[in-house]
Amino acid sequence: MKAEEIKSITVVGSGLMGSQIGMVCALAGFDVVINDIEQHSLDKAKNNLRELMDRRVQKGKMTEVDVSQAFDKLQFLTSLEDSVRNSDYVIEAIVEKLEVKQNLFQQLDGLAPKHAILATNSSTIVSSKLAKVTNRPEKVCNFHFFNPALVMELVEVVKGDHTSEETIQISMELARKLSKTPIQINKEILGFVTNRILTAIFDEAFYLYENGYASFEEIDIACKKGLNHPVGPFELLDLTGIDLNYYIKQFTYNETKDEKDKPAKTLKEKFENKEWGRKTGKGFYDYN
Ligand code: NAI
Repeated sequence: MKAEEIKSITVVGSGLMGSQIGMVCALAGFDVVINDIEQHSLDKAKNNLRELMDRRVQKGKMTEVDVSQAFDKLQFLTSLEDSVRNSDYVIEAIVEKLEVKQNLFQQLDGLAPKHAILATNSSTIVSSKLAKVTNRPEKVCNFHFFNPALVMELVEVVKGDHTSEETIQISMELARKLSKTPIQINKEILGFVTNRILTAIFDEAFYLYENGYASFEEIDIACKKGLNHPVGPFELLDLTGIDLNYYIKQFTYNETKDEKDKPAKTLKEKFENKEWGRKTGKGFYDYN
């Protein structure tokens, strides 16, 4: 298959990521099915996308015609069989649980056309863990968007040992067709590139703060004014959620058993005190 032959894309999972990934694909002119096991999740996805697109029209970023053409390309379905019957490329964006994803990939392998690529948007699960339950491991890879997918430009395309060069080239080209900037990651590694670099920044920020070298506010100022980062590390932890970052560190530590991967003391304290950042009104900063 060539990237030009991709006409139909299925996104499985209509949550935070899946809904916007589906819209990105529809805006690029593909026929798209967004699938979910929960009808209420599909309804919520449709409403959220309507609101987001209406706002773009109000701001003059898009026309009503562009938006209605994109919605004409989108279907929201609960039947997996109907969702993947004509699919050339499947992007999985369901809950971050290995057994649930493996079960889905087994079903996808049986239901999707033989030529279809099966990609995962997972942030932490490498595709080799999913490829092994299929009969098409060469057509399985990571295709990792960033949140919010409608805005963020990067897509990490990760090649496992099982993934064919053709699958990687098609995925890179597909990302460009979606107006994204893909990078190719040649070997599987936990956290891929971007989240590893981000983790290294978080780790150093915690080291400096917990050892009294600077306050968290001053560390945020240093990153913004000295490194030109749009937000400081502690502001970013509050924005993305202390809970999520705690789970990621705990997951990483469970995989590596390396002491340096353990959640930092302050991260653990904030997590246990339910000071999870903006979502709870308090994290490192107070939002009340
Ligand atoms: P979410 O919890 O917002 O949405 C997950 C959706 O999957 C829910 O609507 C749920 O009903 C549906 N679902 C669960 N099992 C299903 C099944 N078997 N078939 C169909 N649908 C099913 O999750 P979110 O945040 O969108 O994350 C999805 C994936 O994207 C995860 O793998 C995560 O690692 C990855 N990701 C998340 C980012 C984030 O910032 N939240 C960023 C980049 C990747």
